[in-house]
Amino acid sequence: MPDGPLGMAPGRVKPLSTKPLTPMTTSPGELSIASSGLPEFSPPQRPAGWWRRHLLDLEGLTAEEITILLDTAQTLKELTGGCRHKIPLLGGRTLANLFFENSTRTRNSFSLAAKRLGADTVEFSSSGSSVSKGETFIDTAKTIQAMGVDWVVTRHPAPGTPHQLARELECCVLNAGDGAHEHPTQGLLDMLTVRQHRGRLDGLTVALVGDIAHSRTARSNMWGLRKLGAHVIVCGPATLVSPRWEELGFEVAHDLDEILPRCDVLNLLRIQFERFASRPFPSVHEYANRYAMNGRRMRRCREGILIMAPGPINRGVEITPEVADGPHSVILEQVTNGIAVRMAALWLLVGGREHPEGGASDE
Ligand code: NCD
Repeated sequence: MPDGPLGMAPGRVKPLSTKPLTPMTTSPGELSIASSGLPEFSPPQRPAGWWRRHLLDLEGLTAEEITILLDTAQTLKELTGGCRHKIPLLGGRTLANLFFENSTRTRNSFSLAAKRLGADTVEFSSSGSSVSKGETFIDTAKTIQAMGVDWVVTRHPAPGTPHQLARELECCVLNAGDGAHEHPTQGLLDMLTVRQHRGRLDGLTVALVGDIAHSRTARSNMWGLRKLGAHVIVCGPATLVSPRWEELGFEVAHDLDEILPRCDVLNLLRIQFERFASRPFPSVHEYANRYAMNGRRMRRCREGILIMAPGPINRGVEITPEVADGPHSVILEQVTNGIAVRMAALWLLVGGREHPEGGASDE
């Protein structure tokens, strides 16, 4: 698969439906907290700058919108005691997970995010469904929507499928990974984790290391980080990092040892062997030799370096156990922050509405 932006800018897609959402059974301001039996809390104010009803990619969001998502995630993380407790913000709503690829973190994280805010969930997996009887992707999605769902969360191997769903469905659509294109909530949770540790993204140097060619996580990080003022380096073997990224203003590097002393954050991406027809390097051993973060390489890094990975990690390939489990690793914090950014996205999207100057800003 060629490495490069896949042309999913919202400006290039057909206008989306601007039909109003189904009314909430209770609005956040009118919650009967006492009868819910859940702890009392003050619902956050809906931010003025948010209009969207879908979260499809980070390339199409403004810096202001990304900041709203991160700020809301931080607020909801605190309101839920670190994403552990329920608050009745979205009672009466339903989320459907529509996954056509495997997932551990993202699927469970979306489910938990919905449940933490009091919503119900419906779980769909392509295996064992009517897809095996010839039902199309769109018909499957419309069937699930007809069960009365407010959000469809979709993961699919084909780039652009969430954008297609956003045109066809009335409910909110969230992209949980479309091929090698984007994985916006992963990008957001990575950014939130960095911001919690560094207090900002502006002026930081973040290296995305590994299989850039097949990584939707890399693309969401690249667009999101750059919009918030970070310097982004994409690093890996030439077979997995296209020089074309340089034309788009990203730094391209092939020598990890050389860039380490300049980095504030390393995000180590898995080699997605399942997406290759043939191996992009002679052996895993050779890859690890040049790109695995290990104890020796850690000694070349800045003192406060953050070690991140979207997971799943392949121990001994892109990261050694001493680094994955070491003091600089924030990999499990990323998982917790995943619930926070998904809570934020769910809450913001159902409040999305028509822009007064005409058309939803998803267009
Ligand atoms: C990533 C994905 O599926 O894009 N994982 C994730 O969502 N946490 C990256 C990967 O599979 O390596």
